[in-house]
Amino acid sequence: MAEDTVTVIDNRTGKRVELPIRKATQGPDAVDIGKFYRETGYFTYDPGFLSTASCHSQLTYLDGQKGMLMYRGYPIDQLAEKSHFIEVAYLMLYGELPQQQELDDFRNIIMHHTMLNESLKSFFRGFYHDAHPMAIMVGVVGSLSAFYHDSTDINNPRHREIAAHRMIAKMPSIAAASYKHSVGEPQVYPDNSLSYTGNLLNMMFSVPCEPFVLNPVAEKALDLIFILHIDHEQNASTSTVRLAGSSGANPFACVASGIAALWGPAHGGANEAVLNMLDEIADVANVPKFLARAKDKHDPFRLMGFGHRVYKNYDPRARIIRSMCHEVLAQLGDANDPRFELALRLEEIALSDDYFIERKLYPNVDFYSGLIYSALGIPTNMFTVMFAIARTVGWVAQWMEMISEDNQRIGRPRQLYVGPTQRDYVPIKERPLTPPG
Ligand code: SDX
Repeated sequence: MAEDTVTVIDNRTGKRVELPIRKATQGPDAVDIGKFYRETGYFTYDPGFLSTASCHSQLTYLDGQKGMLMYRGYPIDQLAEKSHFIEVAYLMLYGELPQQQELDDFRNIIMHHTMLNESLKSFFRGFYHDAHPMAIMVGVVGSLSAFYHDSTDINNPRHREIAAHRMIAKMPSIAAASYKHSVGEPQVYPDNSLSYTGNLLNMMFSVPCEPFVLNPVAEKALDLIFILHIDHEQNASTSTVRLAGSSGANPFACVASGIAALWGPAHGGANEAVLNMLDEIADVANVPKFLARAKDKHDPFRLMGFGHRVYKNYDPRARIIRSMCHEVLAQLGDANDPRFELALRLEEIALSDDYFIERKLYPNVDFYSGLIYSALGIPTNMFTVMFAIARTVGWVAQWMEMISEDNQRIGRPRQLYVGPTQRDYVPIKERPLTPPG
């Protein structure tokens, strides 16, 4: 029996199967079950992928028990404190922190891909004024492949790199245009002399009739929040991007599928849902009623911004954003924003409640981020759009990692079939009035 294997014994037949162990550089090793069906005749069954690794990756690692997250080996708290979004984006794409010239060149490339094709403007006008910006993002990003035929050959590394640069660069422009459409204001062209987040704020909030004054606190706060949202292993939206990419779909369509998956309230849509929940709770006196609902299995209500598939400790990103809240609200918003006070009290009460303690339900990245977005003047329906802008770096980095692998295969899960066994067609005149069973 080799030491780097796991032996599975089928108690029905006594058959023993040895499965190889794949070693991790950090965190759990994995049992390679690629031959499991061929050797045993069984599928493995793991809806939601609680114990299943869908791939190997060198990008991001998180330890759910310790509440730890690192990008390319660098702890998130160090990157949050010492780096900035464009530098971390470079790190995710290329694997190492850049030299100054590499960083300057990368920033220059990104900031010179920020403009949108003029004919895209008609896309925004086609949406009803109250269209949710995430609906617009899915549509417009998915359409980009119609404009950029020169970077959709996924087998060409240079095309992959250009497509990645374009998406990172254009997401803020598309997001800002989605916002401007929803408020009936004219689109604002990018200003390449500004920072990545300064440019976004300018495109969202400047108007032709008066000069725009960029607030450096807002610019820095958004840059920090974007670093925290860049990537997070094989979360639902990233797994969607990888699955779409495994079929050979173009990178713009893959990222559009990721945006669609991120929109769900159980995932990236939670930041918007948290603010709506805080508004619904309204007063700390109502917290017990809502906690009771969160525990009630017959009530679909969940405490939004709480819990996580992997973190069974405080989400390190939530910890960083929470400490940022005080500073940003004091400088930008309302230091006494009743919703921040309510969020702090809600967190305190929930974390002392047995239901949440037993299930290790802690605040996640979405619990506090919306409060800062609000302080920056960003409307609630744009919160998940902000998440999508930042996560585009992770999506394209994960997509590039997958596509560049030699033995990359289409993702095609199997299933446990529990439907009707084979039966013959019955002519309509002979069908029993009450179906069998
Ligand atoms: C993100 O995957 C990622 O990395 C995602 C993300 C990223 O960066 O990409 O981190 C971003 O999506 C953060 C999560 C944002 N979503 C929310 O805040 C929505 C509220 N949270 C829940 O919907 C839930 O916690 C999930 C979806 C986040 C996690 O779901 P799981 O892992 O499937 O958890 P579970 O349903 O198995 O929960 C285990 C138990 C259950 O109770 P029991 O059946 O054991 O009695 O905990 C309960 C759940 O009912 N539970 C909650 C709860 N979250 C879990 N109960 C009340 N409120 C909650 N928020």
